[in-house]
Amino acid sequence: MPDSGISRRRALQLLAGAGALAAVGGCDSDTTPTTVTTIPPVTDTTITSPVLEPDVRDLHVGLWAEPSTASIQAGVTTEVFSYGARVIEGDVASVVDSGSYLGPTLHLRQGQRVRVTFENRLDQESIVHWHGLVVPQDQDGQPAEAIPPGETYEYDFVVENRPGTYWYHPHPHHLTGSQVYQGLAGLLVIHGEEGSLADTVNDLALVLQDRTIDPDGQLRYVAMMHDVMAGFVGETLVTNGVAGYEAVVRPEPYRIRILNGANSRTQYLTWSTGDQLHAVATDGALLPKTISVDGLVITPAQRTDLWMDFSQFQPGDRIELLTADMFIESAGMMGGGMGGGGSDDFGLNLIPQTAASFIVGETTPVHGEMPTAPGFDPTFGAEDAVNADAPKEFVLSTRRAAHWINGTQWEGRSVTELETVKAGTVELWDFVNFSPMPHPMHLHGMAFRVVSRTWEDDGLAEAWSGIEDGVIESGVRDTVLVWPGQRVQIAVPFAEHKGFFPYHCHILEHEDGGMMRNFLVI
Ligand code: C2O
Ligand code: CU
Ligand code: CU
Repeated sequence: MPDSGISRRRALQLLAGAGALAAVGGCDSDTTPTTVTTIPPVTDTTITSPVLEPDVRDLHVGLWAEPSTASIQAGVTTEVFSYGARVIEGDVASVVDSGSYLGPTLHLRQGQRVRVTFENRLDQESIVHWHGLVVPQDQDGQPAEAIPPGETYEYDFVVENRPGTYWYHPHPHHLTGSQVYQGLAGLLVIHGEEGSLADTVNDLALVLQDRTIDPDGQLRYVAMMHDVMAGFVGETLVTNGVAGYEAVVRPEPYRIRILNGANSRTQYLTWSTGDQLHAVATDGALLPKTISVDGLVITPAQRTDLWMDFSQFQPGDRIELLTADMFIESAGMMGGGMGGGGSDDFGLNLIPQTAASFIVGETTPVHGEMPTAPGFDPTFGAEDAVNADAPKEFVLSTRRAAHWINGTQWEGRSVTELETVKAGTVELWDFVNFSPMPHPMHLHGMAFRVVSRTWEDDGLAEAWSGIEDGVIESGVRDTVLVWPGQRVQIAVPFAEHKGFFPYHCHILEHEDGGMMRNFLVI
């Protein structure tokens, strides 16, 4: 895939910064190794602000999934699955190669008509889902649409969503976890009127994942029943497709789009400098007000965009984004839920590891004013719900070594009364978590608001008190953390597209295990 001119130019500018940095770092003596040798080239992975042609124009992209190889750890060749793409018709800047096993970043415009010809070059069925996009049922890339090896699927939709950070990934039932794990995922950025963030020219993205790499360099996935129950957590942090991710940044403000692309790792993010994290967008939209937190909670599939001004640091400074796995070990995991004798073992152990390192380059610093109100208040709320007096209840539970939604699992296109909704209406849905672990619940087809969190039982109340401030949901979300013991109420604005749409836990091993249902929009 050819690089777009703008990103190559930017990469070179950043590398110029790295060169200057070497001069700074190596100034005391000739024997001091220069820092530059440890800095990998800044690839296009980080740059998500290509210059798109200003007028809305149709786009036709060819996209394929295929077996490939990648260098996740330096010097090691690993077999992966990978998305590739090319622009068949339209603005060539719309597809930006990731430089890793990750799929190319797709840059779409609000209001644009997008056609995608997806070709399955794997030896197993697959289908592409546009996570967070409001599209008709047959454009959503649902399990029922999975195509066999060698076939193609034609997408043709209009971008209805707000500008923001989205992503795409496979969705064949029972295979989503393993296909994402093997490398099938990519960022999707929607451009358009962006409130007060429009001036932030520096824009980079981080896709946070984890992998377990065998001594022979190959990916190891679910090994035991435990991985299926708890969700698979890899031993090595992999960011933007590589272990030990580093990037050179300019001493300027950045918008940093973060996707938790891990199969199951809910993460608690901090800056190594002790700085607060300034969140300006969540999932599908800019926040009404910038939220500053000491630590940020991000579940699988969630996106949070940060604003970070690197001009407050010195050339050569190294600023690390740290992540702690919020996995909860529990002796009662395989048993009947809360209070099954394992409650003493519940607890968070927030041990930070480095997810990404930024080295400040030596260009003239540009200071920036942090936006305080980047976005807009959501236009709907609990008061708009047609069932304001009687919220629908969806109980999440764990028994017989499986996870359940209202005592049911995936049944394809068969829905209950609760799961039947009217197009264009807002409903209140309560997720109640009686299982011993957190579940990030995702609905296809819209972004919703979180109305309230209350306690149904003690659950993991103690652990919650340590992370509560890092849960940002003053804007909209399409994936919400449902903590053990909590009732989380969301206001869901169902779109006008009629038909079946999945909702599920975004711990991919739970989803593949059947913790997924459809709702039907009539
Ligand atoms: Cu991210 Cu049903 O998907
Ligand atoms: Cu989705
Ligand atoms: Cu789950």
